Amino acid sequence: MRRLHRPSGRLEQGLILLEGTHLLQEALRLDLCPELVLATSDWLDRHGALCERLPDASRLRSASAEVLAAAATTRHPDGVLLILAVTELPVAATSPPGFVLALDRLQDPGNLGTLLRTALAAGVERVWLAEGADPLQPKVLRASSGAALALPIERMTSPDLHSRLEAARACGVQLVAAMVPEAAGDVRPYWELDWCRPTALLLGNEGAGLAPDLAQLADRWVTIPHSSAVESLNVAAAAALLLLERPRQAHGRPAP
Ligand SMILES: C[S@@+](CC[C@H](N)C(=O)[O-])C[C@H]1O[C@@H](n2cnc3c(N)ncnc32)[C@H](O)[C@@H]1O
Repeated sequence: MRRLHRPSGRLEQGLILLEGTHLLQEALRLDLCPELVLATSDWLDRHGALCERLPDASRLRSASAEVLAAAATTRHPDGVLLILAVTELPVAATSPPGFVLALDRLQDPGNLGTLLRTALAAGVERVWLAEGADPLQPKVLRASSGAALALPIERMTSPDLHSRLEAARACGVQLVAAMVPEAAGDVRPYWELDWCRPTALLLGNEGAGLAPDLAQLADRWVTIPHSSAVESLNVAAAAALLLLERPRQAHGRPAP
């Protein structure tokens, strides 16, 4: 379990570590089958009904609070850890995507987890990550509140993201770059865009913003206008407004 704290351990074993009752509940709600559930006897006494929902193939083991704390990344685990095979996670459909979130080198695991949670709420169907934070690390899984288990997420190199976006555009997907208000060029307020078209939203790195080649590749450039007292918004805060504009515009429109 400790090996799963590191990207190399997750890659070698093809497993991820989930921590806490909420992520176990989410895994079971999504019909995922944990390979192993490790819990303290106190936690087992309080969660009999949840344990009964475990698939037959899941192994359930009890351990002392000390063992659990040694295996967890959090200081005070709530009494349960689980291991899930990466092959349990969703994969993208082969049909052209309706709504894609593309993130350029996002570094902060908290931002990435928050963004994935909003993406799931907004109806995003695929997430494409150019490098940046590993979406399968425990911090991202916790911050996403389980959304990382429900979304098809692909991590790739920056050139691969570029090619993937070009291919999406060839299938009729509009490429929309989220830019800070002072960015040069034809940048429009985000509410002027028709978000109901097949769309890939591109958001940039926390410090450097969107790589110039990705910004140039876009068909549309949108911004959330705000006071010049700040240069930009936090990327996850900006994403919440932009991603949720699509369901807002779709509300009340007939289905395509
Ligand atoms: C913290 S900002 C990066 C700031 C960076 N100095 C720059 O010039 O882009 C991270 C990302 O959040 C998005 N973002 C931040 N503020 C935004 C705003 N007001 N409107 C639209 N997107 C925004 C953009 O995609 C940006 O690349």
